[in-house]
Amino acid sequence: MTQETLGTAPAAPPTATPTAERATVEVTFLTNAGKTVTAPSNSNLLRISLREQGGIPFKCGGGICGTCRCRIEQGLEHTDAVKPKERKHLSEQDLAEGYRMACQTFVNGDIAVSWEPKPAR
Ligand code: FES
Repeated sequence: MTQETLGTAPAAPPTATPTAERATVEVTFLTNAGKTVTAPSNSNLLRISLREQGGIPFKCGGGICGTCRCRIEQGLEHTDAVKPKERKHLSEQDLAEGYRMACQTFVNGDIAVSWEPKPAR
């Protein structure tokens, strides 16, 4: 039986639920007819898209071209910190609206993502 050591740490607020590290996450590709896939937690968003044919556009995969610009419509709090490379392509307002560069973003919880479809030629 495990026992918590009381007195050494402040008690958690009653509403807080322990958020154990999740092994897998769900990613919904809204611009791809809402296709939903499961991936290991802390996976790179572009890598998930490539592996599962999610459809997020890309070119360089290294944070340079800006092609993988996408918007985290749900679960922005489940993405990791914005990288300096992303700030070259995204304004503060873009970031506030949930835009990220898929190749620079890691996912640690369920998200839904959309992007600008490629213009038809
Ligand atoms: S694919 Fe080029 S910046 Fe992400």
